[in-house]
Amino acid sequence: MTGPDRSVVSLDQVRFRWPGQTSDTVAIDELHLDAGEHLFVRGASGSGKTTLLNLLAGIHTPSQGQIRLLETDLSTLSPSKRDQFRADHIGVVFQQFNLLPYLTTLENVTLSCAFSDRKKQRVTDSADVTTTARQLLSALSLAEEFHGAPVHKLSVGQQQRVAVARALIGGPEILIADEPTSALDADNRDRFMELLFQEVEAQGCTLIFVSHDPQLATSFSRTLELTVGEEARSEW
Ligand SMILES: Nc1ncnc2c1ncn2[C@@H]1O[C@H](COP(=O)(O)OP(=O)(O)O)[C@@H](O)[C@H]1O
Ligand SMILES: [Mg+2]
Repeated sequence: MTGPDRSVVSLDQVRFRWPGQTSDTVAIDELHLDAGEHLFVRGASGSGKTTLLNLLAGIHTPSQGQIRLLETDLSTLSPSKRDQFRADHIGVVFQQFNLLPYLTTLENVTLSCAFSDRKKQRVTDSADVTTTARQLLSALSLAEEFHGAPVHKLSVGQQQRVAVARALIGGPEILIADEPTSALDADNRDRFMELLFQEVEAQGCTLIFVSHDPQLATSFSRTLELTVGEEARSEW
């Protein structure tokens, strides 16, 4: 490598093995993403997609190798600093959304800023947090009548948009999404992808998007394919 690595995401010889397993669930020799790049991670069920995202989010730590995000080596951070780093710089859309069911749509979205002074500051530079949350939800086509409703009363497709708004508020540099379209039919999936890309482009996020649906790959400039029990293959 020549010069310092200014990638937003950088993996070097990363291995992760679950206790008791005889092979690595994640094995990625090298991966670098620049600001604003969009990576599609595909692979069958059990190929390690969620495990990889949890490594990138600093929820798991690799058995070997190095993960650098925004020039920070995650292994140098204590667990609580890693949690704060995630809250400040990463938006995560979990496979099961992980929304707080009895809080309202708006409360779920604004909570991201309660956990991160950095995100809160980035929002309040231009508007207040609730106004920004409303704008994001509307941009994601979630009508205002749902903004004050507890999220357990929303459909899966609506909850998914709440999860995306929660992940995007405060302008994280990195957005990670784990199979967010798996519960949608083809029309809703395509509409969702369009809205997601629109917001990701508007904020200039680096996007890492996981799906087992190969049809979605065409929207991405780069693809990483995970296979069960083999090394990851990259193509771009
Ligand atoms: N908490 C866990 N403990 C032990 N093994 C796990 C755990 N979570 C996932 N695995 C194993 O890791 C492999 C990859 O799982 P996962 O990352 O969830 O795959 P994917 O998201 O691609 O379906 C599977 O073989 C699974 O059994
Ligand atoms: Mg998964």
